[in-house]
Amino acid sequence: MYPPSSQYSLLPTDPEEAESPIDVIPQPKRQPWVNSLRTRRFAFLTAGSLALLLVAGLYWSYVFRHSVVFPSPDSTFAFSQDSRPSWVNTPPSEPLVLRIAVMTRVDGFERRNAIREAVFRGVRKEDVSIEYRFFVGAPPDNVKGKEVRKLIEEENEKFNDVHLVEEIRDIPERLSEKRYAALKWAGSVSNASYDYFLTMDSDTFVRFVPLARRLPELYEGKKVNPREEPVLIGRMSMHLTYFITRVPDGNEDPGEEDEVIKGPWFQYPAGIGYMLSSALVKIFLSTDPPLPHHIHYPSDDVMIGAWIAALRVFHDETIEWQFGSDHPPEVLRPKPFLPNPVETLIIDDVHGWHDFPGRGDHDAPISWDSVCTHHVTVDEMKEIRRRLEFLGEWKVE
Ligand SMILES: *[C@@H]1O[C@H](CO)[C@@H](O)[C@H](O)[C@H]1NC(C)=O
Repeated sequence: MYPPSSQYSLLPTDPEEAESPIDVIPQPKRQPWVNSLRTRRFAFLTAGSLALLLVAGLYWSYVFRHSVVFPSPDSTFAFSQDSRPSWVNTPPSEPLVLRIAVMTRVDGFERRNAIREAVFRGVRKEDVSIEYRFFVGAPPDNVKGKEVRKLIEEENEKFNDVHLVEEIRDIPERLSEKRYAALKWAGSVSNASYDYFLTMDSDTFVRFVPLARRLPELYEGKKVNPREEPVLIGRMSMHLTYFITRVPDGNEDPGEEDEVIKGPWFQYPAGIGYMLSSALVKIFLSTDPPLPHHIHYPSDDVMIGAWIAALRVFHDETIEWQFGSDHPPEVLRPKPFLPNPVETLIIDDVHGWHDFPGRGDHDAPISWDSVCTHHVTVDEMKEIRRRLEFLGEWKVE
């Protein structure tokens, strides 16, 4: 069986509680709490607790402003002054130019707002130049779906940052097609005009300034030009399933999947998110037919690693490939996607990309290096952004 199930089982703590089809679209319900003040006694009690809450809130904000340590569980953060890396104070000579796709559920209104507010708003322009879109599939064709569609239109009038992929229904089976649509959006401009295409989930907290400032360290002194060289950055796991295009675009049946074959182990960017150099995006989009992208969740991240590996090893005639079990045995020779093999620089950034402490296989406390943290709730995002250690990464209005 692939992929290893432990890797993907939905976490009980997964704040996204994601990837379930949107038959039911939860709408924020406003409690008419005023109506429930039925008796004076209740009103008195409520006023009393509100006053208490106010005092507690004032105290809390006093503590927050006047202490270095944010009141959070000890295991959530790991800072000590002597661990402060030197790159913290070294801005890049030129801003890093990023195109960013955030994968969100079509009805993920609250999450999108949180990401706008806590992640994108006010990022230091001297360090990073950002162009982002939220990618959503088409809502169902029912009453609720129409409601969602209307809300998205309103959202776009305000923010103009939601990319609705009409051809793809917003269901988990089609997540990899959503990723491919995002890739095409990224590559719709020249690779000379940006450095990396970054993909994140709607429960990923990203700190763009350190992401830019740590790059020289990640390159380990090598001269790397992402606009000309294929580079993948993220948190890597290993896998061995490759894909061969079988399902054409425009296919209506979400149950259809591209052909799966087994070959040599390769690295793929596990779950948390990833960065592809603009040159690699260009290469990905230059194959004919398109790279296989009809691959079911949760293999949509394995797919990225499989493309990179296939671009290199499909040319190697000494490799023995294996079909899936439902296929008659025969000698298999996958057809290379491009005339020449492509070598990609893969950077496994273990300290930079990880899960929130206690959630997921790659969990770690948040520290200076944490540029991309996965499984973060809306409230936690706001909290992390306010850390004193991270002050200055966002402009305060
Ligand atoms: C764009 O990327 C390709 C690799 O796909 C590279 O050969 C080319 O030099 C890049 N173009 C520019 C202007 O950097």
